[in-house]
Amino acid sequence: MTPLNIPEWQSLDRHYSDLKFVSMREQFALDSKRFERFSITSGDLLLDYSKNRITQETMDKLIQLAEAVEIQDWVEKMFKGDAINITEGRAVLHTALRNRSNNPVMVDGKDVMPAVNAVLEKMKRFCDQVHNGSWLGFSGKKITDIVNIGIGGSDLGPAMICDALEPYGIDGMKVHFVSNVDGTDLSTTIEHLNPETTLFVVASKTFTTQETITNAQSARNWFLKEGKPDDVAKHFVAVSTNAKEVAKFGIDTDNMFEIWDWVGGRYSLWSAIGLPIALYTGMDVFERLLDGGHQMDNHFRTQPLPENIPVVMGMLGVWYINFFNSQTQAIVPYDHSLARFPNHMQQLDMESNGKFINRTGARINYKTGPVIWGTPGTNGQHAYFQLIHQGTQLIPVDFVLPVNSHYPDCDHQSILLANGLAQAEALMKGKTAEEVRAELVNEGYEGSALEALLPHKVFPGNRPSNVLLFPKLTPEMLGQLVALYEHKVFVQGVVWNINSFDQWGVELGKQLAKAIVPDLKDGAEISAHDSSTTQLIKLIRELRQ
Ligand code: F6P
Repeated sequence: MTPLNIPEWQSLDRHYSDLKFVSMREQFALDSKRFERFSITSGDLLLDYSKNRITQETMDKLIQLAEAVEIQDWVEKMFKGDAINITEGRAVLHTALRNRSNNPVMVDGKDVMPAVNAVLEKMKRFCDQVHNGSWLGFSGKKITDIVNIGIGGSDLGPAMICDALEPYGIDGMKVHFVSNVDGTDLSTTIEHLNPETTLFVVASKTFTTQETITNAQSARNWFLKEGKPDDVAKHFVAVSTNAKEVAKFGIDTDNMFEIWDWVGGRYSLWSAIGLPIALYTGMDVFERLLDGGHQMDNHFRTQPLPENIPVVMGMLGVWYINFFNSQTQAIVPYDHSLARFPNHMQQLDMESNGKFINRTGARINYKTGPVIWGTPGTNGQHAYFQLIHQGTQLIPVDFVLPVNSHYPDCDHQSILLANGLAQAEALMKGKTAEEVRAELVNEGYEGSALEALLPHKVFPGNRPSNVLLFPKLTPEMLGQLVALYEHKVFVQGVVWNINSFDQWGVELGKQLAKAIVPDLKDGAEISAHDSSTTQLIKLIRELRQ
């Protein structure tokens, strides 16, 4: 079923024609309660969505569309473990990983919670051993450096969380992430490390990912320059669903932390894929992250749709993507420690909703997932905000604003926050030609000089943004934020009638790369390719040293 035929979608289409020229500035002037009307809190987290191109009628219609696609039924299906990942025949249960209520969650008639809890328990035992020194390196020294080797969901989420939770890091413990098969990544990481005190976590759901296995093999070779093969067990652990491949690689399966096929890669930081987080911060902090995720799950599952943060954010996204024709969504955290947050969101959103086929296998004739991008504020202001303010595209922005810093000694927070708020205000208000004229006159401009400069200084405004505001970036808050975006992506996938939980689009490149590797060998017969690829292979062979 295409959403284009749903009466609520068509009603939004008509509403869009009426609303597209309505100015937010005027709406704010007319309604002193606009902030109260268009903001939601969940615990300590506030979503202010009043600076969007909406009226109450818009929100009513968006919520009616969410109801029409039976969003609440889909939410229940997901939480209850139905196999909603239809192309892989799998349940989608990242919510079970952070199910702190411990209520049973059934998959194929079996409660998954005992297995989830057993792995959490195993992670805790292991982390405690590493931290208290009962797990030592081969020469009897304490582990000081964790190197996570993984890619995609087995890297981005844990790396982002470790950066963000740096203030919670255990003294003396450092964490590193190696993902790229470019040897530079591994080489520049290990060149400063001591194999006696380094623990590698090889994180791969499938344990067949070329980049991860290549990096892990090279890491083992590096280790074996000093350690003996028997010492590998003390320095390499694995996180995977695939015990056979883990054993084949040479890691003792006692040192393997299990995950399950119902955990999607980009949703896996809550599972044992989060082991580097727990090793870095301690299991108690990791559990606080899970608590935050669970809190957002409860909000998502129980709050009425108009008061439901992921639903409201998801539907606002649909409003811009499908009616205003927006192509991208910026996520701009005003917190330097969230530098990798947009990267994680990129995989989460684009791998989930970058689809052109609907759940029934038919081609889609409407837009789905946007391009997700962003970097921390204020840096982004001095790079790409020009285009967001005065460019020709409509780019909705999420501003993520923690009120308090973990580093109060360096008290820049007022300046940071003022900038975040100012950007959202400027995007909404803009600056009219009359306002620019008055400013220029004030500055002494007149005549043709004034007229020439004036249009360049006009800001059209009416550009939408959300503000997510919270007291401090605690583990619980971080858990809430990540879970919020996961659910937002899910809501949009339901509206677009796509399976948000497979990722076939990454397979073709992997297949072709495997075929090209032998072609790059000197003297090898080059297999069949287009002429461009063949010539590039030949050139690479010539240029190779
Ligand atoms: O390339 C896509 C992908 O399958 C992601 O979905 C996944 O997060 C990543 O590769 C890594 O996969 P694995 O954990 O199996 O190594």
